[in-house]
Amino acid sequence: MAKKSNQVPDEETYQLNRSSKVKVILFVILVIFILLIALFYVLWILYSSKRLIPEKPWHTEFKELNCSQNYFDHSSRCFKLLQENINSDTDKICNFNDPDLDSSICDFYCKSSDFDNGYCLSNQNHCNCTLNECFDTQFRDNQTNKCTEKALFTLQKHESSVLSLLQLPNGDLVSSSADFMIYVWNITDGTLKKQLQGHEYEVVALTGLSSYGLISGSRDRTIRIWDVEQEIQAKQLVYTDEILCLALLKNGELASGSLDFMITIWNIHNGTSIRNLTGHRGMVLTLVVLDNGDLVSGSSDTQIIIWDTEKGTIKSKIEVEYNWILSLVVLNDGRVVSGSSDQVIRIWNIETGELNKTLIGHEHSVRTLALLKNGNLASGSQDFKILIWNLETYQVVKNLTDHKDTITSLLALQNGNIASGSADTSIKLWNLNL
Ligand SMILES: *[C@@H]1O[C@H](CO)[C@@H](O)[C@H](O)[C@H]1NC(C)=O
Ligand SMILES: *[C@@H]1O[C@H](CO)[C@@H](O)[C@H](O)[C@H]1NC(C)=O
Ligand SMILES: *[C@@H]1O[C@H](CO)[C@@H](O)[C@H](O)[C@H]1NC(C)=O
Ligand SMILES: *[C@@H]1O[C@H](CO)[C@@H](O)[C@H](O)[C@H]1NC(C)=O
Ligand SMILES: *[C@@H]1O[C@H](CO)[C@@H](O)[C@H](O)[C@H]1NC(C)=O
Ligand SMILES: *[C@@H]1O[C@H](CO)[C@@H](O)[C@H](O)[C@H]1NC(C)=O
Ligand SMILES: *[C@@H]1O[C@H](CO)[C@@H](O)[C@H](O)[C@H]1NC(C)=O
Ligand SMILES: *[C@@H]1O[C@H](CO)[C@@H](O)[C@H](O)[C@H]1NC(C)=O
Repeated sequence: MAKKSNQVPDEETYQLNRSSKVKVILFVILVIFILLIALFYVLWILYSSKRLIPEKPWHTEFKELNCSQNYFDHSSRCFKLLQENINSDTDKICNFNDPDLDSSICDFYCKSSDFDNGYCLSNQNHCNCTLNECFDTQFRDNQTNKCTEKALFTLQKHESSVLSLLQLPNGDLVSSSADFMIYVWNITDGTLKKQLQGHEYEVVALTGLSSYGLISGSRDRTIRIWDVEQEIQAKQLVYTDEILCLALLKNGELASGSLDFMITIWNIHNGTSIRNLTGHRGMVLTLVVLDNGDLVSGSSDTQIIIWDTEKGTIKSKIEVEYNWILSLVVLNDGRVVSGSSDQVIRIWNIETGELNKTLIGHEHSVRTLALLKNGNLASGSQDFKILIWNLETYQVVKNLTDHKDTITSLLALQNGNIASGSADTSIKLWNLNL
């Protein structure tokens, strides 16, 4: 007992020891508390950074919204909270840059599994997209979901590729085809008016003047002149190889380009060849006439040649390396546009031979070109598309994607519209004055 009582510290010492122990405990508790706060802070930061705040292309500043029931405010946008999971087949992911999406009728929502206390944890906003109505002249392309111009009407009668188009002075449309036929259509009501039969192979080229009637060139090695009214052949010029293109010269003579690399100048009245223009080393695929009367030809030999047809001499040449020249058209300011097998449309200063501009947009050979009444350029390609280019901005202003095969021929109509012929055997008329 005494021993034990000896070991018991006196009251003062005991008090002292006790108070220092309490201090230590309090200190430890304080440290633990501080550590816990720090830990919570760190966890909070980690947790916050995990919230994937979706990209927000539709605004720059958040403002508080008063969202209605079943919606929650997120990034100044009312999102719908879905109870079920989203069916990825029927519900689309929004592309906010899509001009066809009218955001005012777009329902944004978040998967319930991604929803957490006011935040959408998914990095992709889901959206019940309601697409804009298309104009009457358009249809919705199932593949791209875009409003696409639809043809005013389709002329369907040819049994093979449509190869060339021409408008007669009375407004009628003439089409020639790989089915050897030439048809004359009323484009107001789309009725077939005449059928010109006689060619024995693909009719690749059409040209004409009222005084001569209609002129057609064919791979059957003939050029035929038709009396459209009587629906009969009036004259026939015979060549030694396949005719691939035609152009009427300013002096009334006719130029033909052929498979044998030759350009032949014809007297239409007596049906004789006046002279041959030699210089190409490939098929002559396209011919146009400049304001000054010079002839310009494009060939599979990658060259564009400017000819003096009176003298039969070459004035200048433009080389477009590795490219077949498939189509040519002359602009109002005298520049010449070429479409070629490398998908590129090139605008040339024909006097200097300098490349003035390249138009890139097609995904296959540019087969045909037409200058529209309003100065725009139409191009048709083996990518099945017709692009309309504004030649001031050099931008595509319309895509006409209704054909199902190569666009082989484009024609600017007197009323400002355009006609297109395709390897899908149809001819379509497009209203461009929306
Ligand atoms: C939100 O809506 C409620 C009920 O309609 C209304 O009482 C409240 O004032 C609104 N708040 C704002 C900020 O508009
Ligand atoms: C999407 O919108 C359509 C039309 O408004 C509606 O019928 C459909 O239920 C909506 N879907 C979802 C998942 O909200
Ligand atoms: C596009 O969708 C419409 C309506 O659903 C359908 O009638 C048409 O055949 C579809 N076109 C194509 C090319 O799938
Ligand atoms: C084309 O058809 C329309 C409507 O049927 C008619 O008014 C017009 O005169 C026709 N044009 C020609 C050139 O025959
Ligand atoms: C055809 O006319 C041209 C003049 O353009 C002339 O040189 C040529 O001799 C004529 N040929 C025939 C067979 O009459
Ligand atoms: C032009 O070439 C063709 C084919 O070689 C030939 O038949 C024709 O006589 C030539 N014409 C002239 C005017 O030399
Ligand atoms: C292209 O041609 C236009 C019209 O002739 C001219 O104004 C422009 O300077 C030319 N641009 C180039 C790069 O040659
Ligand atoms: C139209 O063509 C241009 C150029 O090829 C392309 O950038 C654009 O996406 C096309 N638009 C449509 C609706 O196909």
